Amino acid sequence: MPNIEPRKILVTSALPYANGPIHIGHLVEYIQTDIWVRFQQLIGNDCLFVCASDAHGTPIMLRARQENIDPGELVEKFRKEHIRDFAQFRIRFDNFHSTHSEENRLLVEQIYRRLDEGGFILRKTILQAFDEEAGMFLPDRFVRGTCPACGATDQYGDNCEHCGATYSPDDLVDPRSVISGATPVKKESEHYFFKLTAFDAMLRQWTSAGHVDDSVKRKLDEWFDAGLRDWDISRDRPYFGFRIPGTDDKYFYVWLDAPVGYLASFRQLCDSAQGKKSRLEFDAYFGENSTAELYHFIGKDIVYFHTLFWPAVLEGAGFRKPTGVFAHGFLTVNGQKMSKSRGTFIAAQTYLKHLDPEYLRYYYAFKLSAAIEDIDLNLDDFVARTNSDLVGKFVNIASRNAGFISKRFDGRLADHLDDEVLYAEFVDAGERIAEHYEQRNFGRAMREIMGLADRANRYVDEHKPWILAKEEHNLPKVQAVCTQSLNLFRVLMIYLKPVLPGVAEKAETFLASHESSWADREYPLLGCTINPFSPLLTRIDPKAVEEMVDASR
Ligand code: 2FM
Ligand code: ZN
Repeated sequence: MPNIEPRKILVTSALPYANGPIHIGHLVEYIQTDIWVRFQQLIGNDCLFVCASDAHGTPIMLRARQENIDPGELVEKFRKEHIRDFAQFRIRFDNFHSTHSEENRLLVEQIYRRLDEGGFILRKTILQAFDEEAGMFLPDRFVRGTCPACGATDQYGDNCEHCGATYSPDDLVDPRSVISGATPVKKESEHYFFKLTAFDAMLRQWTSAGHVDDSVKRKLDEWFDAGLRDWDISRDRPYFGFRIPGTDDKYFYVWLDAPVGYLASFRQLCDSAQGKKSRLEFDAYFGENSTAELYHFIGKDIVYFHTLFWPAVLEGAGFRKPTGVFAHGFLTVNGQKMSKSRGTFIAAQTYLKHLDPEYLRYYYAFKLSAAIEDIDLNLDDFVARTNSDLVGKFVNIASRNAGFISKRFDGRLADHLDDEVLYAEFVDAGERIAEHYEQRNFGRAMREIMGLADRANRYVDEHKPWILAKEEHNLPKVQAVCTQSLNLFRVLMIYLKPVLPGVAEKAETFLASHESSWADREYPLLGCTINPFSPLLTRIDPKAVEEMVDASR
């Protein structure tokens, strides 16, 4: 085997806001990222996965006020819950930190200082809606009123949900503060702006250099054509965030410090690993000349932040830029937006009370591609697809053959394969499957794998071990056929391992094999003893899905 240096890769998922539970919509991204990371690790790359709670901003501040607790406490409560939820879905982070942390504060201040020294911070006085009763400036979303276009009442300050018009809070008829109900007044305040316009040429070049997919690039081209605008990165007190050095009433806007949280989480990982894993050096990953790869998985709604502001901030502060920003679409359930009244706004914990996480991991994998399109979780299809693919095709190969090996051969596999050519076909398919994983075309990978599972079942049907086993003189053939089938099953288990880590672990125990890597598929298990089979995964009972939906209403 050629000895290739492992790639050094750092991967992130978007940081979830620490003010609400994780639901199945969030999970699309975390499962997608986790599958990609596990795949990289399985093929031997040095791949790390970090994330954190997104702690700052007005909504979190207000919620903490409502609950009469310190916002830091609120963030910690949700951070713990999120860590638990992700672990239960077998999303395996190397570190999960918080943007409300010392590491993040230091990094944000360092970045700000460098940007300021570089001449990329401008100060401008602006007029903004102010709530005199609450004593605070109002973000656009905190002003509601009557739509100037269609007259619908109680619309947001930035767009109308009724007619779709977009406008500024100034245009609203009869505007009201969401916080106190008072009519907002206009008030002046000095704001700090990041000079995005200074990075126009760099960003055009960066987006054309293969760091984003074509559909994202087309979106970016529209934004370039419309002209970039400098970015308001300050907020006035009261605000839950980091204070801007040199001021006593201005805070960094949450979206400035949020992506810095990627670095902060990684920094904490480096610090905690010092000595043990000296490979973890912060500068080797984030220094300007880093050769490590850096990928951000995000939703389509935050492309602007990650492909314009973020690379520009990194460049301006002397850090490396991302190797790739991968955007995915939103989740719909039964073809519609998730909805509480339909019972399709399903919290991670509710799902787990009724179903095994492996089913959802598989279904999302089956639906995912590199495209930015929305993916639909059709609940009937979810049941049919996972039952048919995972239980009917994949697990079935093992359950049809395991009994013969344990009962007739004392658990011992034959010393040779019955059909080496077929085995080699399965091994070779790994090249294509790996390419699909690498390109985030998980759906294509799943289809290839299920095609192989059909082929393996056909092999069993053709050889009928249950008939052969009726005559004593056929026993060596029975052992060879079952050994062949179980080894085909094992290759598929390895291919599915990034998607189904729980099932793979059980299968490894059953096969009495060590923790297998992608390369292990080339070496079949022969002449060794395996353990008795116990079901790796059972069928979904459609009733469990109904109950989950009822519990979500
Ligand atoms: O959109 C969101 O949910 C944000 N909390 C994502 C932040 S990602 C990163 F930039 F921090
Ligand atoms: Zn309207």
